[in-house]
Amino acid sequence: MPKSLKSPEFGAPLPAASPSSDAVELLWRRRSTPADFLGEPGPDAETLNAILTIGARAPDHRRVVPFRFVVFEGAARAAFGDVLAQTFAVDNPAAEERRVEFERRRFLRAPVVIAVISSINPEHKTPAWEQALTAGAVCQNMLIAASAFGFAAQWITEWYAFHDGINEALSMTEDEKVAGYIYVGTAKEDPKERARPVLEDIVTRFH
Ligand SMILES: Cc1cc2nc3c(=O)[nH]c(=O)nc-3n(C[C@H](O)[C@H](O)[C@H](O)COP(=O)(O)O)c2cc1C
Repeated sequence: MPKSLKSPEFGAPLPAASPSSDAVELLWRRRSTPADFLGEPGPDAETLNAILTIGARAPDHRRVVPFRFVVFEGAARAAFGDVLAQTFAVDNPAAEERRVEFERRRFLRAPVVIAVISSINPEHKTPAWEQALTAGAVCQNMLIAASAFGFAAQWITEWYAFHDGINEALSMTEDEKVAGYIYVGTAKEDPKERARPVLEDIVTRFH
């Protein structure tokens, strides 16, 4: 990670724009890598910290900070896998053992997984919808940061993002939802471009 990368001091002057053909290229060509195609190595501690920091720099109306992170690395991934497997087995008593084992290994697909939790303050003047959007922007910032640091990533929800018991295991409150699990690692193979929206289909001009 470049040494110059330090969080700016509060109130420090910042560039209004940062022209960068590398940034444009990254955004123009970025692709998610499916978790099954991720592997070692993952980001080191400093780089992971930078990815989290960049994630947290997402636009946030009235600075509510309506998000928080839970990081899964090392043995914690297997420990969370045990929770997934146990929950899955209870919910699906007829499930085959190998399906339950898949759940046990789910978080071992990548060296690092970051749960981005949308943590809405319903009392706040900023509408809940805007607070939820901020959590989405956090996820996207992380994908871009991961790519810029040379890592592949995928934003995933899957069943466990919507499961009350799993959410409880993450000490989530009623006002919290999983915005995404961001899997980060190194691609075993490069992804291919997918179909993209045709601008003519989604753009109109007001007149
Ligand atoms: C909120 C959200 C949840 C997602 N959940 C999943 C998921 O559970 N499984 C999956 O394969 N892709 C999921 N995706 C899609 C991928 O992250 C990815 O965006 C998609 O494959 C398109 O690839 P791209 O990012 O290269 O455009 C999700 C995307 C979003 C925004």
